[in-house]
Amino acid sequence: MIRVVVVGRGGTGKTTTVALAARWLCDHGWGPVLLVDADPDQSLAEMVGADLAGTGVRTIAELLEETFIAGTGTTIGVSPSERIEARIWEEGLYEGVGFDLIALGTKWVEGCYCLPDAALKQALSRFVRPYAYLLVDSPAGLEHLNRRIADEVDVMIDLIGASKKSFDHVARAQRVADESHVRYGRFVVAGGYQVDPGIERRALAAGLPYIGRVENDPLVAEFTLEGRSVFELPPGNPGLASVGRLLERAGILS
Ligand SMILES: Nc1ncnc2c1ncn2[C@@H]1O[C@H](COP(=O)(O)OP(=O)(O)OP(=O)(O)O)[C@@H](O)[C@H]1O
Ligand SMILES: [Mg+2]
Repeated sequence: MIRVVVVGRGGTGKTTTVALAARWLCDHGWGPVLLVDADPDQSLAEMVGADLAGTGVRTIAELLEETFIAGTGTTIGVSPSERIEARIWEEGLYEGVGFDLIALGTKWVEGCYCLPDAALKQALSRFVRPYAYLLVDSPAGLEHLNRRIADEVDVMIDLIGASKKSFDHVARAQRVADESHVRYGRFVVAGGYQVDPGIERRALAAGLPYIGRVENDPLVAEFTLEGRSVFELPPGNPGLASVGRLLERAGILS
């Protein structure tokens, strides 16, 4: 299983890129994919057409709280990871076509529950085995939270924005990844949908591991605005294709 985490500043297109990546992997027979929505507003679920509320799927925060906080608090008997693992499978997994999704939920992101975090990580490390890919959508600026999901990822993709500031600070991105204490096999930089094509030259000149950019696609923008699933985009959609090229260049298709 290949673990991919997308990080970056606010609004650079992380969630959309993860949704498009899931669609592309499914289309090209690289699934099954497990999506982890670590963003408290849970926009990833909507972008891939996962109706969590309608299907009664619970967030991990809700399950953790019920299992460890609201309960008696005792951890005697069944190990924490076993207790939460069973509940994640039964109550916290949205099953789509070609992909599954789990949403961490707001409270999980805001709170700091060391025992539940450790239990979740352990449960996830066993849980993810049947999947070919794990894609994690991170909330902006909270890269350290990834550590609560996995210690080790194969590729970390830093999606950069259009502003000069964003580019000036991109050299820092790898340090941010290091500070998150997540071990990663490869760190790459990609241009978000707002960057201009000229960024490639500058990024490469600056010695960054730049792998290309996400196409600014009007139909993708329209879909996100309307809350439509990216799985309804036409197969030849340029935004979708651009994310496919990124995945190829990130060296994770094997
Ligand atoms: N490839 C694209 N083409 C056109 N518009 C896009 C594209 N990707 C994202 N957008 C637009 O940018 C908006 C923000 O994208 P998205 O929510 O994916 O960013 P984000 O980095 O996840 O934001 P946040 O940091 O708030 O989580 C979307 O609502 C959409 O309108
Ligand atoms: Mg997002």
